[in-house]
Formats: sequence, C-alpha cells, structure tokens
Amino acid sequence: MKTRILFVDDEPNVLSALRRMFHDMRGEWEMDFAQDGPTGLTMIAEQPFDVVVADMRMPGMDGAMFLREAQIHNPGAIRIVLSGHSDRDMIMQTVRPAHQFLQKPCRPEELKAVISRGLSLREVFLDERVKNVVAKLDQLPTVPRLYAALLDVLAQEDPSVREVSALIAQDVGMAAGLLKLVNSAFFGLRTHVSSPAHAVNLLGLDVVKALVLGVGLFGRFDKEAFHDFDLEKLWSHCLGTARLAREIAAQEDAPSEAREHCYIAGLLHDVGKLVMATNFPELYLEVIRACQAGQGTILDMEQHFFGASHAEVGAYLLGLWGVEDAVVRAVYLHHEPGRDRRAGFSPLLAVHVANRLEHELVVISRDYAINPLDELYLAASGLAPRLPVWREACQKVLEQGGADSGG
Ligand SMILES: [Fe+2]
Ligand SMILES: [Fe+2]
Repeated sequence: MKTRILFVDDEPNVLSALRRMFHDMRGEWEMDFAQDGPTGLTMIAEQPFDVVVADMRMPGMDGAMFLREAQIHNPGAIRIVLSGHSDRDMIMQTVRPAHQFLQKPCRPEELKAVISRGLSLREVFLDERVKNVVAKLDQLPTVPRLYAALLDVLAQEDPSVREVSALIAQDVGMAAGLLKLVNSAFFGLRTHVSSPAHAVNLLGLDVVKALVLGVGLFGRFDKEAFHDFDLEKLWSHCLGTARLAREIAAQEDAPSEAREHCYIAGLLHDVGKLVMATNFPELYLEVIRACQAGQGTILDMEQHFFGASHAEVGAYLLGLWGVEDAVVRAVYLHHEPGRDRRAGFSPLLAVHVANRLEHELVVISRDYAINPLDELYLAASGLAPRLPVWREACQKVLEQGGADSGG
C-alpha cells in the first residue's frame, strides 16, 4: 500500500514545487495537496492520511491549529510542521501536536528523510499513553540551544570539525561542562582534553553531539533540589551504560556507526526518568517508594502511576528532537527488547545488556531494582552464549576507568 501524504500550504507555488519535487515518489506515495487548513480537514474526513505536512503560517487557520485538529480527526498520522522560523524549540513549543519540524526552504531529500523517519518511529510517536504523559508537561523540555545549532550544522553537506568545534566553543558554559566531563574518570582518557576541537577529534562528532545533549539536559537541574531522586547517580549510570554498550558493540565487531549509536543510546536511555522525576517530583517519588516496598519493577510502577514508562517518554522526546532512529528505538525498548523481533546484534541489544551489567557491576542503589535480563530475547538473538564474554569485557572497562577513544 502506498503511503498517503497530505501537504497543506497557502502558497500555490510551494504546493506546485512540492508536486514537482516528489514526482518520482509517485510509486510509493499518494500525495494530496490543500491550500488551507479547512480544505485539508475535509480531505482527512474523507480518508485519513499516514503523514500530514503543514506550513506554519497560513491566513485563517494556521499550521498549529490545523495540526491540532488533524491530531483529533486523524490521530494515526505523523504530523510535520514546516516553518520559515529557524527556532526549532520555539516552534515545537507552539506546535505541540507536531512530531517533526523542518525549516523552510528545505531540500527535497531533507523532507523525504523526515517523512521516512516519522514513519519508522510511528510506534513511538503514536502511542496514546505516552502522548498523555507528554501532554501534561507544562513545557516540553527544551533541547539545549547548542544541540539544535549542531543539528543544523551537521545537516549541511560536509560539516567540518572546525566549524563544529567553533560552535561548541562559543557556548562557554557548555564547552566548560563538556571538557570537565571528558577529562573526568568516566572517560579515563590518557591525554588531557584541552579544547572542544580536541574532544571532537578524540571522541568523534556523534559522541560529542550526544554529550552536548546529555550535559545540557542533566546540567540544567539543581541536583541538590531533588532529595529523593539522585540525579547525579542517574547521570553516572547513563555514562556507564554508554561505555558498556559501546564495549559490547566492540566485542561484536560492530561497524563504527553502530558503536556510536550504542554509546548515544546508552547515554540517553534513561532520559525519560529525568523528565518525569523533575516535572512530577511527587508522583515520581511514589514510583520510587513503591519499588522500594517491593511492589514491582520501576517499569511496572511507572506504568501504574503515569500510564507510560520512562523508556517510552524518553524515546518520544528524543524522536521529537531529531535523534537517530536506531537510538530512539533502542531507548524505547530497552526494558522490553522482546518487542523487537530482529535477530542478531543491535544497539537495542547492547543497551539492554549494558543497562543490566552497569547495575550489576557498579554500586547498586536500592532506588533501582535490578533490571532483569530478557533471556528469551537474548536466546532469540542468537547471541546468548556471548554474555560471559561481554560481562568480562565490561568488568575490564570499568576497572581501567575506561581508556576509550570514540570508535
Ligand atoms: Fe531504564
Ligand atoms: Fe538504566
């Protein structure tokens, strides 16, 4: 079946340009075009779409209003907003029902990539339970400005390390936080990292990009303010999981892109906890208390009190922020990998195992019940016999303080 896509834009030129641009997609896409919101809604009422793409600024019903209506009448569609404004964060705040954001003018490949990304993350984006939790956030947690800027630079054809490093160096606070982290025991690098450029060369662009997101998200909270929820411990668990996930990938001889995805997914896998605990501290405290009282795992208790888990909420937000699909999927299922049927190695597998090993090998806090390993999933992956090797390798990484370098 073809993917049904609706484009809504008040400018006839834009619509005809889209029509021309995607002429070669007719085999896969069935495209409809509307010149205003109400017309688009009539088309939706006739037959729902898989994807709706709306311009932000339109007379009468604007893009935000249209997408809000589309959310109600065509809840199964991925919603993409096109805007002339470059402030991604501002747009995502105003257009809460949007799943993806694109700045106008955009190249056809960009729009194609965003559409296919939205479709592949459908399961994450269209989960009602998650949507309900996210809708309760007064404000969507904002992406660190620098991260958004990095995404823009990296979207260019050939981004140079120099350009990226210069951008990081401009954000003095972030650059300092990043260097402090990279030079800390978590990285156990043998050399002192003296500049963002040095960090990028040593660790790779993707890792530095993920660290910017992690440092930015974790760094904005006053860690003292959360007495019952130890943010510091969570951050160090995330850093540890990242390293172990990458080590497991290395043990499996995974290509460097997959290793990076493992690292990033490990680093961000529990970001949903951060968001839930800082936005709803009292309710999250109940989750923790119930876990401590042995009423169930953290996942069960989050489902019970919030209706969705930190894995699902985290993945949804990472998806909105444009983090790679493979990473979003690994975060989404890190406690329930069995929902993914693919055999063999994947970032999901690495993060699932690394999360468990990190809890097992590092200080165990009673706040977190140990995450069970999904034995059936491991067996189905065909990699269960590798577990002792991974455990030993991870142990070594932790002992060494992890002298690692990007790859
Ligand atoms: Fe988790
Ligand atoms: Fe975790």
